[in-house]
Amino acid sequence: EKYTLLRGRVLDFHSRPEGEADTAAYRYIEDGAILMKDGKIKAVGAYCDVAAKATDAAVTDHRPNLLMAGFIDTHVHFPQVQVIASWGSQLLDWLNNYTFPEETRFESPVHCEAMAGHFYDLLLSHGTTTAVSFCSVHTASVDAYFSEAARRNMCMIGGKVMMDRNAPDALTDTPVSGYDNSKALIDKWHGKGRAHYAITPRFAITSTPEQMEMAGALVAEHPECFVQTHLSENHDEIAFTAELYPQAPDYLGVYESYGLLTPKTLLGHSIHLQPREIEVLAETQAKPVFCPTSNLFLGSGLFDDAGLRSKNIQNAIATDIGAGTSYSMLQTLNEGYKVLQLQNQKLHPLQAFHWITRGNAEVLGLADRIGTLEVGTDADIVVLNSRATPAMDLRMQCAETLSEELFVLQMLGDDRAIAETYVAGKAMKHTSGKTALAEGA
Ligand code: GUN
Ligand code: FE
Repeated sequence: EKYTLLRGRVLDFHSRPEGEADTAAYRYIEDGAILMKDGKIKAVGAYCDVAAKATDAAVTDHRPNLLMAGFIDTHVHFPQVQVIASWGSQLLDWLNNYTFPEETRFESPVHCEAMAGHFYDLLLSHGTTTAVSFCSVHTASVDAYFSEAARRNMCMIGGKVMMDRNAPDALTDTPVSGYDNSKALIDKWHGKGRAHYAITPRFAITSTPEQMEMAGALVAEHPECFVQTHLSENHDEIAFTAELYPQAPDYLGVYESYGLLTPKTLLGHSIHLQPREIEVLAETQAKPVFCPTSNLFLGSGLFDDAGLRSKNIQNAIATDIGAGTSYSMLQTLNEGYKVLQLQNQKLHPLQAFHWITRGNAEVLGLADRIGTLEVGTDADIVVLNSRATPAMDLRMQCAETLSEELFVLQMLGDDRAIAETYVAGKAMKHTSGKTALAEGA
């Protein structure tokens, strides 16, 4: 395979920057280049240096756009692409009125495959190159999810939701079938290409103690897998969980007692936490996931980013489609910024872009593969146009610093600001699922 070279303004992160002056934390190259081959990054640096290394490389000139690591969405629901923007309820009613009925349609493999195509088209058009997703209870939804990811060569994490109560019959498994089906899916998909499996008990309300025990057995037997669930999103949810698990000291205590908390555990929302739960998060290194657009949409509450960071608890940020209201990690940062403003917490634009790239990759333990532009990592790259709309262009006429530009992207940007998305070195934004298939390999 030939070398390909992308020319543009290059930005990536070594660590979480304190601000623009913290130049040890990030790398910014005004006339930069990324050299790629076989899906990997081979060189990064000043354009003249990198171009000299591969004089026969095919060059794509993205100037004046920014080149960054592809965005990572750490909590999303693939079967909810047709639930997004459903009016009028908070969490439990929203699940019963909109989400569960929609997820029953994923019983059909044909429906799963059609929705997977749309799902990946949406992720890529918004600059997201890796996501961690809940699939439906049906194994066909997981097969469609990972098959479509493999066709596009994407690094994706996901798993079958386990739920055996408080949901429609058509959506429930049993402790044994939930275990057996998850196990079979792990064997089939985990480690295949760029796929990672996540053991996925939906949340405490929809699993019996027997199922939680089986989920814990899976976690013990498969330490290579991720674990994902929901935690303390909504007050009614927390009260119902306390009724269902009267012996647990608190919500997180349920997951703790079944052995579900590991450094690879992702806990969606984690809003209304008790001091003991925060201690347990710090001890177990299970990771809270901030879902700002969803938390505002369902009226769930305000995530305490600074409070968790002060306890050395690293958290991730995510869309939570379909309770989330945008596929865009830029719009997710926009709403996240406002949620933190309501608590007088500051989010610097460099920290924001670190969060959706390297920060999320570190939470996943995958920063040696994705989330940066380091040589040897996978060539998942997003190309950002900070003048994509008239409003952005006008504002950019008065922007003087990199941080100002990033903030314009974060507050005003969406899929229109994504000029291109590269997955394993291939341009994917304008390639629909069907054409990706036709062009195949
Ligand atoms: N808690 C349990 N299931 C869900 C879900 O699908 N979305 C959200 N936002 N919270 C949940
Ligand atoms: Fe969720």
